[in-house]
Amino acid sequence: MTERESRRILVTAALPYANGPVHIGHLAGAYLPADLYCRYQRLQGRDVAFICGSDEMGVAIMVRARTEGITPQELVDRYHPMIRDAFKGFGMSFDWYGRTTSPVHAETSRDFFRVLAAKGAFTTRTEQQLFDPAAGIFLADRFVKGTCPSCGNPDAYGDQCEKCGTSLSPLELVDPRSTLTDAKPELRESTHWYLPLGASQARLEEWIGTHPEWKSNVLGQVRSWLADGLRDRAITRDVPWGVPVPEDVAAAAGVDAAGKVIYVWFDAPIGYISATREWTAAHGAPDGWKDWWQSPDSRLFHFIGKDNIVFHCLMFPAMLMAHGDYVLPENVPANEFLNIEGRKLSTSRGWAVWLHEYLAEFEPDLLRYALATTLPETKDADFSWSDFQLRANSELADVLGNFVHRTLTFAGRFADGVVPPLVDPSDADRAVLDELATFPSRIGEAYEGFRFREGVFETMALARLGNKYFNDTEPWHTRKTDPQACANTIHVSLQLCASLAVLLEPVLPFTAAAIRRMLRLEGVATSAPADGEFADAVPSSATVAGGRIRWADAGAPLLAPGHAIGLAEVLFRKIEDEAIAAQLAKLQGPAAEAAPEPSLPYAPAKGHVTYDDFAKLDFRAGTVVAAEAMPKSKKLVKLRVDLGYEERQILAGVAEHFKPEDLVGKRVTVVANLAPRLMMGLESQGMLLMAENRDGSLHPVSSTGENGSVVR
Ligand code: MF3
Ligand code: ZN
Repeated sequence: MTERESRRILVTAALPYANGPVHIGHLAGAYLPADLYCRYQRLQGRDVAFICGSDEMGVAIMVRARTEGITPQELVDRYHPMIRDAFKGFGMSFDWYGRTTSPVHAETSRDFFRVLAAKGAFTTRTEQQLFDPAAGIFLADRFVKGTCPSCGNPDAYGDQCEKCGTSLSPLELVDPRSTLTDAKPELRESTHWYLPLGASQARLEEWIGTHPEWKSNVLGQVRSWLADGLRDRAITRDVPWGVPVPEDVAAAAGVDAAGKVIYVWFDAPIGYISATREWTAAHGAPDGWKDWWQSPDSRLFHFIGKDNIVFHCLMFPAMLMAHGDYVLPENVPANEFLNIEGRKLSTSRGWAVWLHEYLAEFEPDLLRYALATTLPETKDADFSWSDFQLRANSELADVLGNFVHRTLTFAGRFADGVVPPLVDPSDADRAVLDELATFPSRIGEAYEGFRFREGVFETMALARLGNKYFNDTEPWHTRKTDPQACANTIHVSLQLCASLAVLLEPVLPFTAAAIRRMLRLEGVATSAPADGEFADAVPSSATVAGGRIRWADAGAPLLAPGHAIGLAEVLFRKIEDEAIAAQLAKLQGPAAEAAPEPSLPYAPAKGHVTYDDFAKLDFRAGTVVAAEAMPKSKKLVKLRVDLGYEERQILAGVAEHFKPEDLVGKRVTVVANLAPRLMMGLESQGMLLMAENRDGSLHPVSSTGENGSVVR
């Protein structure tokens, strides 16, 4: 059987660390696209295993537990259910959501480790390691911070620099310090197991070479790792939390296993396998997992965010290759990052939208839609609450909700709530039905190609088409002049609604279920697991396992003439400005209060200038009297500044920091004798002074002096 013909699709979504709740950055990076993909594939009738779980080992968990003053176990017991329930509320259709503290996981990862050790896939090394004398602990991974040797980021972790993505070992950090005690570490000797990735480089390169179809952002990162040359990776740690190194393997190597655990990036991806084992075991097939992981009939897809690329495209595949029995990923459609309101998402600074908080106030489908239309598929993308409102109101309510509602109310009033037969269809009727036939494959191709934004856009195009058709055929008119034409419009519009009730299912599962309920459309195949923990994630009204109506069927009329439909319900309520303002205030509140992270660097001091140099500058106090965005410029705002003796036009590069209207009335200080400069065809007659915080935020330098007063 060729890859293309194989029917089993094994999909994993990155195991989130159980050290905090899930936010929209997680959703946009990995979980929503994975869910779209799985729901779509299930509707196609393919066998899908959608696997996820909490990543509960590793130093990230220990560090967080320390700051919360609880044990790592208490920490993961707090966050695992919270993450799981938020995912459920969001409509994630996992077949299994496991956790890496489970006994099956310990056994699976220790067995995997044993097999690789027995195959000679590891090396061991005894080396000096960083040791925190104050805490009495070896400093691995996130227990140590220091300056990144690659980009100079002063807050790189011992395993990775989050700024430039370079993977690091603690000894590579410049000026390391303990994140536990801030102590300067000492060197002590310890023995560890290594995965000699360098030795796998040729095989990895050859394998990557067989996947030119991978996303370019993924291939770009992978190729640059390969070009740098892969280095050996320590895969054990001396920390008190993790899956213990198998004692037999340690004994054979003459090493004391006490206190040694498997590195979290070795055990976590094996968590995908453990969770699959638990899933098939729960369905009475303890060996069933092998059909997914060890059969050429299965295709494996890893959905992740870009910070996980190296682990899923190089390290885990190297482990799978070394083991020998496993399939390798068919694709790793990683996404880039999602910013919020133009700023980098930061959990420590409270600049995040938390899923569980969102769900307490809004419907899951609104966020699914807003995110699906802004996924960072090829480059970083931005989420803003105003965009959320716009999508909800102008697209979901005004386009989709409107079309379904007008169709159903019209059918209720003028066709007695029964699908009328299509008799002597007009050219317009036929044209729409012909076009409907193209939608399943058009949307499907986008989903198959991991272009989820496009797929969702094409889906909404069907609702747009419906509205246009309804307007063009004017059934409110033909009702009196040509009743059959009116009945045909109702017929065709109802068919479009029925198709939408299937094709919307990946992106808007709750809405699709509601439309099916209103249409009394039954027999649609389910897009969510039919049983298990997440089966009730969506009240998939009238979807059934083995349902006869599948994805491709949605291209043809689904409702038989004479079928009685139900009543129209309102699908989407408009989101008010106040609700959006409240979300913005919530976002800005904690972020504004939080002190800048103490670890951020101050800009380096500049050298001396003479007093005469300084005296050449003419600083003046002024007031911004007008401000407008510059068309086509992301950075510039066009200002008019009152300097008392004259008004100036100043182009300031502050658009990413302020809305023009927020600048009006601001007291500012202007460098008034800076030579005029042309910027984007306009003259800028001076410069505003701004204090730039270490986090990059800008704050105008203002005085209470009158406009035009000299500042010196
Ligand atoms: N917990 C990791 C993170 O949040 C992802 C782990 S993915 C897995 O970045 F493959 F290791 F499971
Ligand atoms: Zn760096």
